Amino acid sequence: MSLSVLGTGRRMPALEITNDDMASVVETSDEWISARTGIRGRRFITNEDLTALAAGAGRLALEDAGLDASEIDLIICSTIQGDYITPSLANLVQRDLGASCPAFDINAACCGFLYGLDAAHAYIGAGKAARVLLISAEHMSKFLDWTDRSTCVLFGDGAAAAVLGGGSGLRYITVDSNGQTESLRIPAHKPGIPFARSGGEEREKSVVYMNGQSVFKFAVSTCTDGIRRALDTLKLTAGDIAHYILHQANGRIIDAVRRALDLPEEKFPTNIRRTANMSSVTIPCLLDELNRAGRLKRGERLVLSAFGAGLTAGTCVLEWQKEAVSYG
Ligand code: UT7
Repeated sequence: MSLSVLGTGRRMPALEITNDDMASVVETSDEWISARTGIRGRRFITNEDLTALAAGAGRLALEDAGLDASEIDLIICSTIQGDYITPSLANLVQRDLGASCPAFDINAACCGFLYGLDAAHAYIGAGKAARVLLISAEHMSKFLDWTDRSTCVLFGDGAAAAVLGGGSGLRYITVDSNGQTESLRIPAHKPGIPFARSGGEEREKSVVYMNGQSVFKFAVSTCTDGIRRALDTLKLTAGDIAHYILHQANGRIIDAVRRALDLPEEKFPTNIRRTANMSSVTIPCLLDELNRAGRLKRGERLVLSAFGAGLTAGTCVLEWQKEAVSYG
């Protein structure tokens, strides 16, 4: 394994929306949302665009790593969809940062950051890149059905990034896929064409559809099993890990995994209260929050674990090798 985190950054949209604000759009309440999910607020993109947020997060991660964009060999963006279907979000971020390296997007839904880490590791390990900028950026609000209270209250928008380079920080990583659309999907927009016969099948709207309970069960079992497998492989105990940074989809999922592993709450940092579920952004955002708060100590082991549409899953064990920086 040959990868370490050199720097992190995040940028959130300006508009903050509380659960009470959501209750003015759908029949819901702060009491229901916070009790069932742990979410109290989220940010939504209004006047910004996703490219600017992604580039902003990337710039902060570069500053944190003490690097210039010209020193980056590859930009990977994980996103369900950027501002354009083509060019990719990574292409536009490359332009905005003034970098001159290859750039591409990956879509692995909420597991995008872990899939991105895996891809960056392969590039660095093969000697094709020395430094990779990995940015997760999601505009979930454009896929929300504002009449479906069971999904629209769950998500938020944002961007977060990590600069990755060689080193021995990455100790273990697996990513999995099990293709199905029943539990969680956002159908692509399918416009009619002039040659289509009339009376075609009814088209689903391009919004989030989710069977919450089935995803909940998948999330708890896949995260718990994935973490146990990682620890067994590395011959570590659950207590050897300083922080479990899980995908922030529901506080109750995080708590169920924590209880299954019989670990104390302080090992499971969360930010879902403020950010809601930002898909692939949740893990790098939490990583940046911990980094900038000085809560990650050199030599500590972290577990990152995610699940999402696909269905996808991923788990990694990372040793934090970055020197502590004072962020003033
Ligand atoms: O990152 C992508 C992966 N996504 C996830 O991981 C989400 C996983 N699933 C979940 O987090 C939970 O299943 C939800 C938060 C989506 C739902 O929580 P739940 O405890 O599974 O609730 P439920 O779907 O069983 O619904 C319970 C009740 C229903 O009413 P009845 O049938 O009991 O009368 C719903 O209609 O809650 C109702 N309900 C709401 N009530 C107020 C559903 N959404 C809302 C709402 N406000 N926003």
